[in-house]
Amino acid sequence: MIIFAVQFYKRKMLDKIKALHNEIDAAVASSIDEVDELRIKFISKKGSIGRLFADFKNIPAEQKKDVGQAINTLKNYALEKINLLKESFDASEIGESGLDLTMPGEPMKLGTRHPLALVKNEIIGIFARLGFTVAEGPEIEDDWHVFSALNFPPEHPARDMQDTFFIEKDPDVLLRTHTSSVQIRVMEQTAPPIRSIFPGRVFRNEAISARSHCIFHQIEGLYVDENVSFADLKQTLLQFSKELFGEETKIRLRPSYFPFTEPSAEMDVSCSICGGKGCNVCKYTGWLEILGCGMVDPNVLEGCNIDSKKYTGFAFGMGIERITMLRYGIKDIRHFFENDVRFLKQFESAT
Ligand code: DAH
Repeated sequence: MIIFAVQFYKRKMLDKIKALHNEIDAAVASSIDEVDELRIKFISKKGSIGRLFADFKNIPAEQKKDVGQAINTLKNYALEKINLLKESFDASEIGESGLDLTMPGEPMKLGTRHPLALVKNEIIGIFARLGFTVAEGPEIEDDWHVFSALNFPPEHPARDMQDTFFIEKDPDVLLRTHTSSVQIRVMEQTAPPIRSIFPGRVFRNEAISARSHCIFHQIEGLYVDENVSFADLKQTLLQFSKELFGEETKIRLRPSYFPFTEPSAEMDVSCSICGGKGCNVCKYTGWLEILGCGMVDPNVLEGCNIDSKKYTGFAFGMGIERITMLRYGIKDIRHFFENDVRFLKQFESAT
């Protein structure tokens, strides 16, 4: 009877083990999380095999060996099964984090240079080959460098609140309205010969439209030495225009007025779109105005302590937006400042 009871316990345990073995055998998982659920269900302390170990304590000592072995075999089988399931997910390279390391990478989007930067760099390159260095000056300036030293009379309209951004309560602090201010800074600090260009951002209190903006960019040029003549200015600008717009480009200088140059001129280039025949871009004139220039006024040289009897110089200034618009046929200046990548990415390969 006792033997029967013992046999009964053992049989019951072995049946349980067999049933669990079948259950583990049939177990499937469709994700790494489900594999973990199976591990908890079968192997953890409170899981099915854990409970078997607890029941094991009640088995009579002389039967422990067989049952114990069977439970250990079952446990090893369960561990093996769980590992196999785990590996089947590892094989698809999806780790527990859900990352699939075999997936093709997303291509990295490369930026392109801004059209204004492309044209600016091209202009700098042309003048660098003609022996001009590059310098920069501050955007926040004072009246002296933007107006007074450049010979602007006190009542000149450019000094008006309507055109210039002043800092409130201090009319001597303002945003430069042109890069000509850098001429003064360089002449104050450097003895001739000076042969430099000054690219930079300028500010004018103007309504924003397709043609004008309150922020834009200029490149200023300055050449001061002994015997610098108007012929040098003209030859330099012709060479520059040919390199920028093409070998067949012609230039013409029209008399003009700027307070800091005497004589002063505005320069047109033959329209590179119609070749000078006349089109809507050049308003059927065949010419496009691109810069102002002239011989540095002796007053300006003297104001910077440069002997105007010994030295002469020429200067010129151009708007980068205008040249870029002509270059690429851009109709609205506001495109430059809207940062729309569909617009911006069109230019880099074009130059
Ligand atoms: N500063 C002038 C402007 O913003 C452009 C200019 C004209 C610059 C003649 C010069 C120059 O150096 O000689 O309109």
